[in-house]
Amino acid sequence: MVSRIIPVEPFDLVVFGGTGDLARRKILPALFRRFCAGQMENGTRIIGAARTAMDDVEYRAFVAEALIEFNGDHTGCEPGTIKRFQEILSYVTLDAKGDGGWSELAAKMHPGRVRAFYFSVGPSLFGDLALRLHQYGMADHDTRIVVEKPFGRDLDTARALNRSLADHFNENQIYRIDHYLGKETVQNLMAIRFGNMLFEPLWNSQYVDHIQITVAETVGVGGRGEYYDRSGAMRDMVQNHLMQLLCLIAMEPPAVFDPDAVRDEKLKVIRALNPLKPDHVVRGQYLADEEKPGYLEHVENPDSLTESFIAMKLGISNWRWAGTPFYLRSGKRLRARTSEIAVVFKEAPHNIFTEDSGRHRNILTIRLQPNEGIDLDVTIKEPGPGGMRLVDVPLDMTFSEALGPDADAPDAYERLIMDVVRGNQTLFMRGDEVEAAWAWTDPVIAGWEERGDRPIPYDTGSSGPEEALALMHRDGRKWRDIRA
Ligand code: BG6
Repeated sequence: MVSRIIPVEPFDLVVFGGTGDLARRKILPALFRRFCAGQMENGTRIIGAARTAMDDVEYRAFVAEALIEFNGDHTGCEPGTIKRFQEILSYVTLDAKGDGGWSELAAKMHPGRVRAFYFSVGPSLFGDLALRLHQYGMADHDTRIVVEKPFGRDLDTARALNRSLADHFNENQIYRIDHYLGKETVQNLMAIRFGNMLFEPLWNSQYVDHIQITVAETVGVGGRGEYYDRSGAMRDMVQNHLMQLLCLIAMEPPAVFDPDAVRDEKLKVIRALNPLKPDHVVRGQYLADEEKPGYLEHVENPDSLTESFIAMKLGISNWRWAGTPFYLRSGKRLRARTSEIAVVFKEAPHNIFTEDSGRHRNILTIRLQPNEGIDLDVTIKEPGPGGMRLVDVPLDMTFSEALGPDADAPDAYERLIMDVVRGNQTLFMRGDEVEAAWAWTDPVIAGWEERGDRPIPYDTGSSGPEEALALMHRDGRKWRDIRA
């Protein structure tokens, strides 16, 4: 099944930080793929803007190189498409903190069409960019701005950022990206929950024993050591990506699928989170193996107390979830790159079979990556004569198999950028959501900083520190294996 392409009206998109790493790796390749797919109408313009002095010709060559390097094995583009894509590109050398280049940029805007400004720069420049867009007359009601994480490093900094943007833009013009929300299966979470009758009646503490969310990576922090050591897994992954997954899993059904209705429900989940108890968190740092350095060497800080792994047990105080624990974990340099959410249902209330038929539970697993799909473990009779022995088998729905090999799952950035152009904020974080997530995170981080807690070393290629396993074992539960 090939996905439907709905072309969007011609638009102007400016990428601030247009020569940076994110632009090269993600934003420009994503735009290119949407261009290949035929989603951009004639007349669309993409303008790179950055401090580096360059002209249009040099920028086009720069982008072509990035596309060749980062477009992966995407085969949907006909030969010659890069050349056609280059024609819609231009470049402005710009000083975010001064006046250089701004009049030139303003002159490139087409009046009356959607314009989007992608702030692919550090948050310290967000306020400057917003101010200059306003001063140079580019902040009208058709303007949208897109901002990347990290959106602050605590509640105070997030509030300050929100204020600096709100001085010049309304909330409905601000698109805060969390690229996890653009992942196909993450959106499928809402489709599975709210498009089927089967699951929702069971989606509560009466039937669900617990929920586990794992986002495991095999990569370390090499190359981003300085940023990462100031953040750690809590700020880098939990406060945003895992929190968003938790919200989608735990939220009430919104009355309509519209941006504020969805985000109102997510916000309620964050506000209902219990404070995290110190003995419900395990933090770790990966060790070196024969080939690669460990965390401390990577960040060049032998005294670092920052975590590259975190596991936690959370509770949500509301009618639906009181009493059901949520276990979350995320880490670098683990056994496999795998992200999944597992909803583990309770055992049947009464076992009518013999004692040795064993204990069985249904588990609904939503696999975000790789092999996007869902599995439902169901209990059946083990085939063959000799009595009633039970066995759990997965009903496996791997999306690429179910939808056909052509099922085109666009990269998260492709979808999100197109949503900006269409003016759909459903998959973007609202200011109050981000602040609520920091309000929950701040005291947890402050706690371990005050106590001087040291992360526990773990082996590269493992599932994290043993203590993380114990976090579930002491509740009589078990993490699912991390495997590709
Ligand atoms: C980013 C984090 O937001 O997400 C990285 O800063 C992390 O540390 C990345 O590696 C993971 O994203 P994905 O899409 O590869 O799961």
